[in-house]
Amino acid sequence: MEARENPSSLLQRHQGVTPPWVPLFYDSPLSIHHGDGCLVTDDEGKAYLDFYSGISTNLLGYNLPEVREALIGQLNTGVVHTSTFYLIRAQVQMAERVARLSGMDDPMVFFTCSGTEAVETALLLTTEYRDSSQVISLRRSYHGRSFGALAVTGIRCWQGRGLSPLRVAFAPGGRRRGDRAGMDDAAYVRSTAEELEELIASSTPATTAAMLVEPVQGMGGAIPLAPGQLHAYQEILRRHDIPLIVDEIQTGWGRTGKYWGFQSHNVTPDMLVFAKGVGNGLTMGGVVGRREIMSALNVSSISSFGGNPLSMAAATATLDYIEEHSLPSHAERTGALLLEGLRRDLADVSWVYEVRGMGLLQAIEFAHPGSADPSSRMASAVQERCRRAGLLVGVGGAAGNCLRIMPPLIVSEEQARQGLDVITAAIRQSAADIASSVSNRGSSWGTTACMTAAPHSEVSDDTR
Ligand SMILES: Cc1ncc(COP(=O)(O)O)c(C=O)c1O
Repeated sequence: MEARENPSSLLQRHQGVTPPWVPLFYDSPLSIHHGDGCLVTDDEGKAYLDFYSGISTNLLGYNLPEVREALIGQLNTGVVHTSTFYLIRAQVQMAERVARLSGMDDPMVFFTCSGTEAVETALLLTTEYRDSSQVISLRRSYHGRSFGALAVTGIRCWQGRGLSPLRVAFAPGGRRRGDRAGMDDAAYVRSTAEELEELIASSTPATTAAMLVEPVQGMGGAIPLAPGQLHAYQEILRRHDIPLIVDEIQTGWGRTGKYWGFQSHNVTPDMLVFAKGVGNGLTMGGVVGRREIMSALNVSSISSFGGNPLSMAAATATLDYIEEHSLPSHAERTGALLLEGLRRDLADVSWVYEVRGMGLLQAIEFAHPGSADPSSRMASAVQERCRRAGLLVGVGGAAGNCLRIMPPLIVSEEQARQGLDVITAAIRQSAADIASSVSNRGSSWGTTACMTAAPHSEVSDDTR
């Protein structure tokens, strides 16, 4: 086996050439060397069960023969890239397939290389179509890292100065805080719909380009919209002729237990953006939308790499596998097993504020006992403990206080139970550590951080 560089020397070199705003997980960051199924092995030979899937991207885990063979088959043609100036058979086939799966009536499809680029494309098309630079987004949303995508992102720790060609107004997402904390679904839907009406009437111009919504707010900490909320929102949008764009970049392709997150909400979007999982690790994203909106651009527009033959080969094999193995319903079953297990096993842990999610997109939010004050340190401590026990999970949420759990969709029930045991033990041990530590709140167990990067303040729902 090849000699591997020791991790601290690699970290030093990484820090020498990588800007400080690219966060790394763990006190001693991890380099993954190889993987198989839901298991990965680091540079030092330690194996882990992966419940993070490369930010919810490796839907089929690692080294799946069907995807590998599709890639090798394409490589053997000698053609990895041609560009959107040529016909690409696999791209046309995939576009037809995505159009069918979207449930929209006679839509069109454009492929990109990333989720961010897909969001930018949707913003470009809807602002042209409606001749407006006004967009409505949700608090605690994440939509990518470009100028436009950051402007519509509703989590402060990901935003820059907020300079943007767009005007953006933020409506409530699914998180019930402040006055809405104790509301049942019906009251919450009514109250948030009223706020959207008021926002459109008071804070937006006569024409709004679009409203952009994640059905489950992934980076926000797996926050599902309330049942009926998106439906109520769409009824209002229809009255004002505002197109609804659903961002399915994290929720798509079966992760929430259905093909799309919006399918739990009895709505038909006007546009849908996708990326991540469908390439199972190959760069792939895109937009599918109503024909008249997709046709609204009166100039030429290309993507050099979007829909390239290699990504299309991976996506075709990935989608075949998802369909043949009914992975959305598998995600619904294993997701329920995991979520119910976490809720049951953590019911008495006072640091656990909420366990939530849909399908295999889940999070545990930590707060100081008896309060809603976020504890990012608890999330990081649990993440470190899970790693030591051989399980990879993420950290996220608006205050870095959520443990993010997103195994590949091929995870077995046995692996789901293994992960559950590791997570609950890690949480109990971390809570016990805090109880026995001399200093508690406000010192070493502080309240806020943005992932593992620079400190920031918690974004509260009533500040925007
Ligand atoms: C909901 C959502 N939208 C957009 C993006 C941006 O996608 P990408 O990182 O591929 O640019 C992400 C990435 O995590 C996401 O979760």
